[in-house]
This record gives sequence, C-alpha cells and structure tokens, in this order.
Amino acid sequence: MYTTTKSIIVKDAEPFDEAKTRELVGQFHRDGYLFLKGVLNTEEVDVLRELMEKKYQDPKMHEEAGDHIRGMSMMRMYEYDVHFRDLIAREPVVSLAEAILGDDCHMMSQNALRYEPGQGGGWHVDDRVHVPLPDEIPRHDARLRLPCFVLNTLFPLSRIDDVKYGVTEVVPGSHYSGRKPGDPHADPEFEGQGPVSLLGEPGDMVMFHNQVWHRGRKNESDHIRYVGSVVYSQRIIAQRLYPFIDYRMPEYVWQDADDRMQRLLGRHEKGAYG
Ligand SMILES: [Fe+2]
Repeated sequence: MYTTTKSIIVKDAEPFDEAKTRELVGQFHRDGYLFLKGVLNTEEVDVLRELMEKKYQDPKMHEEAGDHIRGMSMMRMYEYDVHFRDLIAREPVVSLAEAILGDDCHMMSQNALRYEPGQGGGWHVDDRVHVPLPDEIPRHDARLRLPCFVLNTLFPLSRIDDVKYGVTEVVPGSHYSGRKPGDPHADPEFEGQGPVSLLGEPGDMVMFHNQVWHRGRKNESDHIRYVGSVVYSQRIIAQRLYPFIDYRMPEYVWQDADDRMQRLLGRHEKGAYG
C-alpha cells in the first residue's frame, strides 16, 4: 500500500499546444532527444528525491527476491509511492510521449537512478539496435523518420549544473547510425558531432529515443546523484515488469486511477494481436 494517497505532483499542468508539440516532436525525431527546462517544481523535485533516498535506506528494499533495487537502478517506483505513479501522467511530458508513441502507449518501466560518488555508466543504446545496418551502409537516410518504439524520460532531482555531478550526455542524431557507439568508455562521434552534456537544474527533463547514443556521466562530486524516470513505449512493445509472466500489478497502484492513468499502467483496449 502507499503510505499516502494524496500526491503533490501537479495535475493541472497544460500540455503544449498543437504547433509547439509538432515542433518538439520534429526536433525529437531529428536529434533523438529533447531537453526541457523547469518541468517539475521545487516541491516535486524535493519529494521525489527524498522518496528515492527513503526507499534506498529501507533494508527490505534490498532483498533480492523483491527486485526493488538493482545496483544504481531502483525498480518499479510507481509501486513504492503514489508520487512516482503520478509522475507517469505529468504534463506536458505525457502528451509529448503520446504524440511520439501514439495515444495507446504505456509506461514500459519506471526505474529511478541513484549514483553514489564514483558511479556512472558507459556509452550505449538501450536494449538492442532496432534497425541495424551492415558495415557498408554508414547511416539511415536522413529523409526518413525512424520510428520510435521506446523513449526514456529522465527527471534530474539533484544538481546538474556541472559535469562533475554526473549529468546525462547524448550524441545528437546518433539514432540514425544503425549501430552501437563502439567502445563504451571512449567519447563517440557521429558524423563529426560529439557528445552534448545536458547541464541545467533539478526539475528539467530529458526525453530521448532509446536508440540515441547516451550515458550517465560518472559522478565525480561528493554528492549523490538522483534521477527520476519514466520509460514509455508503443503498445506493441510489452511492459518490462519483473517477474514478467508472474508479475501482477498491485491493486493499490491502479484502483483510484483515471482512465488515462490506467491505460498508461497497461490496461489497454482490445487491439492488434490481442
Ligand atoms: Fe540507457
């Protein structure tokens, strides 16, 4: 059960209008990411960050059978607290995700990331390359819009105004490469474009195509780095909720949720294949 049922996640934020949405969706497909300033307010940032630390400090959450924490990843955060569940439907993010993935998209997973000093990750794309190219084809044709099946949204909940805090980095356009970035520990370039460090403030939001080359830069500060997240996918991509066939979403997560939230949690209309 949630310890509280009332959340302070803002419910009446407006989605972007049609023209702005079209512009942002175009930018997302071209660059492979969007970086929006000031999406969450200070109270939301503080509450989400404190909940992450509370979960991390609970010894029960570290028991392997529950799979609530795997190293830096804190799994299925919507189960832990209603604030994380409500983050899944936070505007203007959710409408942008729907504009890219379709009105029947869902939350594929929701893992928060907690980096101790010294922790970080190498360059990668998430999961496998969806449309891989052979060596003799250098890239996908820029005239085509590559479909996006899965996108990540990251909500920095601690300082990101200097690379030493271990910020998110991306290589713009690299989702068109049709390949992985190579050595995970060497800065990759795609057609002369190197990495961009997404510097900003807690409350900003990064949305990226899961095929763009990216990493969480190593945290070289003495602060813990906190990142909230929601991964959304097209309906045709199944949710990734451990233990998969045996997973049953707890009732308290969805029972008071509206139709849109229920769909985002996976309660779909009948459709192709099922
Ligand atoms: Fe990743």
